[in-house]
Order: sequence, then structure tokens, then C-alpha cells
Amino acid sequence: MTQIFAHRGYSALFAENTMSAFLAAEKANADGLELDVQLTKDGEVVVIHDEKVDRTTSGTGFVKDLPFKEIRKFNANKKGEKKEPIPSLIEVLEWMQSNQLVCNIELKNNLFPYEGLEEKVIQLVRKYNLNNRIIISSFNHYSIVLSYRTAPEIETAPLFNERIYMPWVYAQSIRAKGIHPKLVSVSDEIIKGSMENGIAVRPYTVNKESDINRLLRINCTAIITDDPVKALKIKQQFEKRP
Ligand code: G3P
Ligand code: CA
Repeated sequence: MTQIFAHRGYSALFAENTMSAFLAAEKANADGLELDVQLTKDGEVVVIHDEKVDRTTSGTGFVKDLPFKEIRKFNANKKGEKKEPIPSLIEVLEWMQSNQLVCNIELKNNLFPYEGLEEKVIQLVRKYNLNNRIIISSFNHYSIVLSYRTAPEIETAPLFNERIYMPWVYAQSIRAKGIHPKLVSVSDEIIKGSMENGIAVRPYTVNKESDINRLLRINCTAIITDDPVKALKIKQQFEKRP
């Protein structure tokens, strides 16, 4: 059955990429999470979508120019009542010891290469013994290949937003076990063709009821959605159909 992954946590209701958003996704019974990582000036892997902290936090500047200690002072829950820091990846992986969620770590290294990011993430995943519950994705496919070569035991999935011809052939060529396409870039035939060829498909970002139903009908591997509560409700209704 199609799995439900919470995009940046339960980001429809909670500040994206915060522990609150991840805890809420767990509480909602999501199967998995998607989160984004960047590297601080002093080499800490932090969970934030943009290269700059400006949009999502009370701070300013590039993540790559800020030490972790400074970054932790910013509020990543600007619109909420409770102040919340940008999580470190360590914090998320520690919390994952207490649940069974799958976590899709998106390496945000398509603008800045963040040398060593792959190795740091993999080292942490191994340290917390989460090899089987992590999927590494990225729009930077060189990084996907490097991740696979460094840790063949961890699943990888290239992200893309263009229509690729027979994407399962491409995925197999870089030893990825899945693909994470933008929803509009994949037809039912492409999704089915990929799955028939052993490639998992997890389209993003799937928020509309009609799109969720479409993917449930073809038993797509997973959907990445901002609203796991809504998606799980639709999935429940779908399963009850005669
Ligand atoms: O991983 C799917 C999706 O998160 C990729 O786009 O910009 O939301 O990180 P973005
Ligand atoms: Ca992402």
C-alpha cells in the first residue's frame, strides 16, 4: 500500500523542518518523513531547506557562513508561539531511535557542493544504526552516486523535475533503488513502468485529493505530502472502497 511521507515534517500545520513538525508527523501515523540538510561553517549537518536562514528563521545569512552555535540561536518557528531552533541531523536521528519512521534525507547540495556532506550524513546514519530506515535523495546526482559508492547499503533516490525517458533505466544505471520525481513530471505509465522494473517511486509534493487518489489507485510506492493527516484520511477511505 502507498506510504505517506510528511514533506519537511507535517509542514501544512507546523513550521517546516522543525522537531515539532516531525513529532506531529509521527503522531499522525505517517510512514515516513522528508527533510532537507545543509552544512554549517563548522561542519554540522543541520535541517533546513534554504541555503539562507532568512525565510524560515529569525536570523539572516547563509548556513555555510554561520557556526552551529550561532545558528541554534535563531527561531525556526517564527509564526508560532513557541521558539524552536533549527534541528541538527543528530537530534533527528536520536529521536528516530524511539520510533519506526522512515526518513528521506534530501542533501541540499545542488547550489553549494558542501564538500564532505555525504560522508558526514552517512557516518551519522551508520552511528545510529539507521541504514534500513534512511533514503538519501538529492537533485545533485553526482552526490547520489557518491553516496551509493560510500554506503551501498543505504537506499538512494535521485530527485528530478523534468520528464525523463524510462527513468528506471537511469535509476538502475546509478544504482538508485528509487526515484523522487516532481508530480507533474510522471505519468501513471512511467510510475508503473518504474515499479515493474523494481524502482520505488515517491513523487513530490502531492497535496491535492485528486492526485492522492490517482497515486493510490496505481499503488504508487509512496507520496511526499505537506499534509499527512489529510493524505492518511484519503488513504483510509480508499481502502474501505468495495
Ligand atoms: O524531496 C522532495 C522535495 O522536497 C524536493 O523539493 O524544494 O521541497 O526540497 P523541495
Ligand atoms: Ca526537500
